[in-house]
Amino acid sequence: MSSQSNAVFARPSQVITDTYGPKHVAIIMDGNGRWAKARGRPRLSGHHAGARRVRQIVESCPSLGIDYLTIFAFSTENWKRTQTEVAGLMNLFRRYILKEMNALNMADVRVLFVGDRIKLDPKLVTLMSELEALTAQNNGVNLTIAINYGGRDEVARATRKLAEDVASHRLSPSEVDENTLARYLDTHVLPDPDLVIRTSGEARISNFLLWQSAYSEYEFVDTLWPDFTVAELKRLCQSYFFRERRYGAIAT
Ligand code: IPE
Ligand code: IPE
Ligand code: MG
Repeated sequence: MSSQSNAVFARPSQVITDTYGPKHVAIIMDGNGRWAKARGRPRLSGHHAGARRVRQIVESCPSLGIDYLTIFAFSTENWKRTQTEVAGLMNLFRRYILKEMNALNMADVRVLFVGDRIKLDPKLVTLMSELEALTAQNNGVNLTIAINYGGRDEVARATRKLAEDVASHRLSPSEVDENTLARYLDTHVLPDPDLVIRTSGEARISNFLLWQSAYSEYEFVDTLWPDFTVAELKRLCQSYFFRERRYGAIAT
């Protein structure tokens, strides 16, 4: 892999160009609960406020040169929360898809869901598949929503499928390398993220895109997700421009 230097180009008045900004931005949307708590409201109202933010961020992608936006909505570990919160979140996802389906399609957004669907309510899974099918031919922003997603779980599921192919002689063990394994991941159609953002001040990745973010740039910001703005996303994309990604090679 060649090294891509973002630092050697003069900055044309802070304009993010299609060429040098992050093409794939992944966001760990954290802090909804604290946002609600600070207002004396139930946690679920924070999740609703967070969901309302998503539309503005998706809409801003074309002008920021972002072709792929991947958002972490529910982790494989989030089942540990109260039954009320989990049910509220699942209900929110269902309502979100129904409410946003047409707008996303009209905006030429192509939607993909990643994560294990097996534990999800079949009605939600049907809606997820419908939204994917409806938007499959779109050519605008690629929006990937991670629901019941965990990086370790994804690698384990991919390995299981790969092992099945080896067992049935569709794949030989000598063919197994990084590229082969990556083809079994939920994200096989996506490029790796260039920039991973986590809101709410926590500096951890909480099992998000473990394989794919091996060489991603990271930004941890204090803003709670429901307060995250397009202006802040733009600032982070601009600061990405100045980073030099070396991929293990020598600085240019
Ligand atoms: C992120 O917000 C959304 C989900 C994990 C579903 P949180 O609900 O984790 O908010 P905090 O971290 O408790 O503030
Ligand atoms: C990560 O946030 C998952 C999502 C944003 C969906 P969490 O709030 O679940 O992560 P931890 O528990 O603080 O690590
Ligand atoms: Mg959290």
